[in-house]
Amino acid sequence: MSDSIALWHAEHANFATLLDLLERQLDLFHKGESSDYELMLDIMFYMTHYPDVSHHPKEDLAFARIREREVTAGPIVDELTEQHARLKKVGGALVDALGDIVNGSIASREHVEASGRAYVADFRRHMETEETAILPLAARLLRDSDWAAIEAAIRHIDDPLLDKNGEARYAALRRQIARASRASQPITR
Ligand SMILES: [Fe+2]
Ligand SMILES: [Fe+2]
Repeated sequence: MSDSIALWHAEHANFATLLDLLERQLDLFHKGESSDYELMLDIMFYMTHYPDVSHHPKEDLAFARIREREVTAGPIVDELTEQHARLKKVGGALVDALGDIVNGSIASREHVEASGRAYVADFRRHMETEETAILPLAARLLRDSDWAAIEAAIRHIDDPLLDKNGEARYAALRRQIARASRASQPITR
């Protein structure tokens, strides 16, 4: 497996861990127990400042190159590209709603539960499609020179969850992920 494909897969594994953490908080809310809204906000803030800004735009460029070489991939590429736009929109709305809850200026928490669950389901389905339909095509069709061009076209951002000295606002989230990864698989890059 090339480094680029391995990194792509590792990022999906990290996002899956965050979606699990988010879902656990939504389950607590559903059972009437207290949820950690600040943690949920940190997760969604990350989702809208790393996957939406770096991971998905890189994928869009990779998709375009895959489509050039495998025309039958066109419909699935179109669908995934549309999903990137929708995830960004729904994710942004969730950040706003969770921010309002944390600031004490919103009462409608049921709405957050419904959109949070839809976001988790949509993101998981999206990654599943990429893992099964696109990553194998990318492994077959994209060369090192393609990955170099893609990397050069997107402004590089260090993943703030993978750097223990990264942005302070992610410190609590990093601790949660470390706890979750001790219980399953380590997050590596
Ligand atoms: Fe994607
Ligand atoms: Fe992805």
